[in-house]
Amino acid sequence: MSKIHIVSNRLPLSISREEESFELSPSVGGLATGMRSIYKEYGGKWIGWPGLAKDDLTEDEIVEIDDKLVTEDCLAVHLSKEEINLYYEGFSNNVIWPLFHYFAQFCDYNPDYWEAYKKVNQKFAQKALETVDDGDIVWIHDYQLLLVPEMIKSVKPNVTIGFFLHIPFPSFEVFRILPWRNELIKGMLGSDLIGFHTYDYERHFFSSVRRLLGYEISFNEIHLEDRIILADAFPMGIDYDKFENLAKDITHKSLQEKSELHRELEKYFLVSPDRKLILSIDRLDYTKGIPNRLHAFEKFLNKYPEFRNQVSLIMLVVPSRDEVEQYKLLKSEIDELVGRINGQYGDVNYTPVWYFYRSLPFENLIELYSTSDVALITPVRDGMNLVAKEYIACRVNQSGVLVISEMAGAVKELGEAIIINPNNEDEIADSINQALTMPLDEQRRRMKYLQSRIRRYDVFKWSGEFIKGLKKVEGIQQHFLAKRITSSLSKELVEKFASAKKRAIFLDYDGTLVGFNNDPQAASPDEELHKLITKLEENEKNTVTIISGRDRETLEKWLGNHKVNLIVEHGVWLKKIGEDWKMLDNISSTWKPTIRPLLENFVDRTPGTFIEEKNYSLVWHYRNAEPEQGELRANELKDELRNMIANHNLEIMEGNKVIEVKAGGINKGIAAQRFLGDDDYDFILAMGDDWTDEYMFRELPESAYTIKVGLKKTEASYKVESVKSVRNLLKSLGAE
Ligand code: UDP
Ligand code: G6P
Repeated sequence: MSKIHIVSNRLPLSISREEESFELSPSVGGLATGMRSIYKEYGGKWIGWPGLAKDDLTEDEIVEIDDKLVTEDCLAVHLSKEEINLYYEGFSNNVIWPLFHYFAQFCDYNPDYWEAYKKVNQKFAQKALETVDDGDIVWIHDYQLLLVPEMIKSVKPNVTIGFFLHIPFPSFEVFRILPWRNELIKGMLGSDLIGFHTYDYERHFFSSVRRLLGYEISFNEIHLEDRIILADAFPMGIDYDKFENLAKDITHKSLQEKSELHRELEKYFLVSPDRKLILSIDRLDYTKGIPNRLHAFEKFLNKYPEFRNQVSLIMLVVPSRDEVEQYKLLKSEIDELVGRINGQYGDVNYTPVWYFYRSLPFENLIELYSTSDVALITPVRDGMNLVAKEYIACRVNQSGVLVISEMAGAVKELGEAIIINPNNEDEIADSINQALTMPLDEQRRRMKYLQSRIRRYDVFKWSGEFIKGLKKVEGIQQHFLAKRITSSLSKELVEKFASAKKRAIFLDYDGTLVGFNNDPQAASPDEELHKLITKLEENEKNTVTIISGRDRETLEKWLGNHKVNLIVEHGVWLKKIGEDWKMLDNISSTWKPTIRPLLENFVDRTPGTFIEEKNYSLVWHYRNAEPEQGELRANELKDELRNMIANHNLEIMEGNKVIEVKAGGINKGIAAQRFLGDDDYDFILAMGDDWTDEYMFRELPESAYTIKVGLKKTEASYKVESVKSVRNLLKSLGAE
C-alpha cells in the first residue's frame, strides 16, 4: 500500500526542555493545527524540525527526542543554530515571508541566507528520500521548503509529489523582485500538484511561471518539457466537528469544571448584562494588522462613547519568530499602544484591552471563541486565516458576528461576515459598532450560512480533495505519456527501418529538428543537424523531405546544399532534389492587402510582435510579447480574422506562438500525400511538433510511423519529448 508522507519545516509537535526532560506540545500556526487532525490516517511519516537547536543537545538527547517523536510518527530534521539563523529566520522569515505578504521593504536579500536555504532544503529532501518508497506520495508544505519538490523528484521520479503553499503567492511584479525567483519556481515545479488557498494566488503563480520560464499553461495544467503538472486552489478548512463538539461541551460544565479563564470571563459579564467582548487571536506578526486593529478600537471608543466601560477587546497574541528584528519592533509597538489605550479609557473596574502575550491551551481557545460576541480579524495580508473559521465553528447557538479583513484568504468563503479594509480605521470602528448592535436574528441568519459552508469544506474534505487532485494528475500524466516511444518501440522502429527497401522520411523543421528561437531567422541548422541529415541522405534507400511552414528562400538558403526535398509554406511549394520550385496548387495571394492592416494594428498594440510575409501567407509572431498579453491578443486576433475571412478561401493556422493566415485548400497532409504519389514506400516516417503537422499525421497511411514532438494530444501514433529525442532517434536510424 502506498503511503502519504508529510514534509514541513515545523513538526505538528514542538519539543521544549523542561528541567530534566523534554516535553512535546502542539505547534502553533495554521499549517500545524490544520494538518494535525489528518496525518496519522496516511500511514506515512511527518518529517520536520522539532523546534530546538541541535547545538544545545547531546547525542543522547537527540536519540531521546527522535524516539519520542517516532511514537508520534514524526521524523526529526535537526538544525544547528546557524542553520536556524540563516535558513529559518533569514531566508524564510526575512525574505520570502515579507515579500510574499507584500512587505518588500522588510526583505534582506542576503546571499548567505540563500545558500543556507538551499542546503537546509537539501537536508529535508534527503530525510524524505531515506523514508519514501517508489509509488508513495510526499506532501510538502509551505514557503520554507520551496526547493524540496524538485530535489526529491530528480532523485525519485516515481514518487508523486504534492506541494501546498499556506501563504499568499504574490503578483509577478512583487515576485520578480527576488534575485532567486527562477530557482524557487523551478523548485516548486518538481511537484505533480501545487495547491494554493485561493484562485488569486494560483493566478499569480501561473503568471510568474509563464513570464519567467515561458511554459505553456492550459486551464490549470502546466506543460513542462517532459511532464504535465497541475496547480489548483484548495481553501484549507478546519476540523469543524472537533471545535463544535468542544464548544458544546463547555456550555455544560459545572463551575468547578470550568477553567480559571472561563470563570474570569463569566465574572466580566456579571458586572452588567450589557457588557460585550470582542476577540482577536493571532501570532505576533506584522501581517496580522494588530496595530491597525488597536488604532481602530481606540477610534471606536472615541466615536461611540456609549460603549466605554461596556466593551473590551481580548487580544491573544502568540509569540512568534522573536529573533527576527521586525517582530521585536512590532512587539514594542503593540505594548505601547495597549498601554496608551488602557491608560486613557480604563479605570479600576474596566480594562479596554485585555492583552495576553502567550499561547493558550486548546480548551481556553474554545472558551474565548464561545464567549466573545464579536471576532475582529484585521490582517493586512493573510494566506487564509483559520482563526476566523474556528470562531464560526464554536458559535453553537449561532449568535456572534465576524468582522474580517478583505486581505485574508478566508474572506472568499465568508461573504456573510462584515468585511473591512484593514487600512481604513474609520470603517473598522463603524463595523465594530455595526457588529455590536446587530439584531440577534440577523446574527443567526448570517452565522447559519457561514457555518454550513465551513462545516462542509472542513480540513478532511480539503485534504481529500488535494489527494484526489494528485490521483487526477497521475491519470493526466499517464495519458500524456501513453504514446511515448519506449526503448523497445524504438528498437522495433530501427529494425523495421533496417529491413525496408524504400523509405520516405518527412521532417518538420522548427520545434522538431531545431528548438525555438526568439528570432526565427536565427534558427539556422547547427553542425550536428547538418551531419545528421547528411548521414540520412547518403543512404540511397532514404528519401528525406523537410516539410515546413517556412518560406522558400530561408529553407533553400539553409538546406539547399543537402540532397533533400523541400516542401515549404505548409505545402504550397515543392522542390525535389535537383529540380526547380513547383507550386503544388494554384494559389492566390491577392487577399494579402486586405488582411495585412489588421495584423499591423495588432503589431502596433502588442510590443514584441511582428509580421512575417511569405509568398502565400502572412504570419503574426508573438513569442517575444509579454506572455499573457500575447495570449490575450492572439485570441482577439483569431476572432477578428475569423470574421474577416468568412467569404475567402483562407485558413487560420495556429502554430507555436504564431498565427498564420494562408490560402486554403493546401496543407502539409495533402502535400505529403501528393509527394508520395503512387510510389510504393515500405517505410514512412513523419515527425512534427505543432498542429499544422497533425494534417500530415492524419493523411499518411496507417502503416506510417507518425511521431509528435512534445506531450500534447495528437493524432500521431507516437510521441517523443523534445528536439533532443528527435535527434537521438535520427542518429540511431542514420547509424543503420
Ligand atoms: N492557535 C494555537 N494556540 C494559540 C493561539 C492560536 O494553537 O494559543 C492556533 C489557532 O487555533 C489557529 C492557528 O493557531 O489554528 C493560527 O492559524 P491562522 O491560519 O489563523 O494563522 P497563522 O498563524 O497560520 O498565520
Ligand atoms: C504560518 C506558516 C507556517 C508556520 C506558522 C508558524 O502559519 O504558514 O508555515 O509554521 O505560521 O510560524 P513558525 O515560524 O513558528 O513555524
